[in-house]
Amino acid sequence: MDEKKLLVSKIRDGTVIDHIPAGKALEVLRILGLTGKEGYRIALVMNVDSGKLGRKDIVKIEEKWLSRKEVDLIALIAPTATINIVKDYRVVSKYKVSIPDEIVDAIKCPNPTCISRRSGEVARSRFILRSRDPVLLECYYCGTVVRGDEVEKYVTA
Ligand code: CTP
Ligand code: ZN
Repeated sequence: MDEKKLLVSKIRDGTVIDHIPAGKALEVLRILGLTGKEGYRIALVMNVDSGKLGRKDIVKIEEKWLSRKEVDLIALIAPTATINIVKDYRVVSKYKVSIPDEIVDAIKCPNPTCISRRSGEVARSRFILRSRDPVLLECYYCGTVVRGDEVEKYVTA
């Protein structure tokens, strides 16, 4: 990338979530449960030009490594995102997120009477992907549907 175009500097060690659909960077942060109070150094870049998407957002988080579940949640709201793992200023790993066919233990069912919400119940929250575009997830137990843009309200992971 042309250094003159860099809005924020490169990071030394951490994760860069690139090619996020324009305007969704804050949603990505919320899905990761990051409020700014955890102490991570974070850079947000919003609505910058991108060849592929027209415009995109970028989130850079120093010293943060994403779990599989976190990457799956990002895919639900930002299916075009690329995860870049940076070590000593170099991108040592790069991959595209992919929307999971099911997601376990990451989203609380909105239905208060769902078996997955009973205390002491062994049924773990489990959602099955019913549609990719738009993203629609269905609770395995009670059939309640959660849209991709609602996921941030129900994340538990
Ligand atoms: N990046 C960073 N700090 C580094 C290295 C890279 O913040 N030390 C960021 C870059 O600014 C870019 C992303 O990580 O947003 C991916 O870097 P790189 O693979 O070098 O860029 P591109 O080749 O443009 O990526 P792509 O082909 O995925 O668009
Ligand atoms: Zn349910």
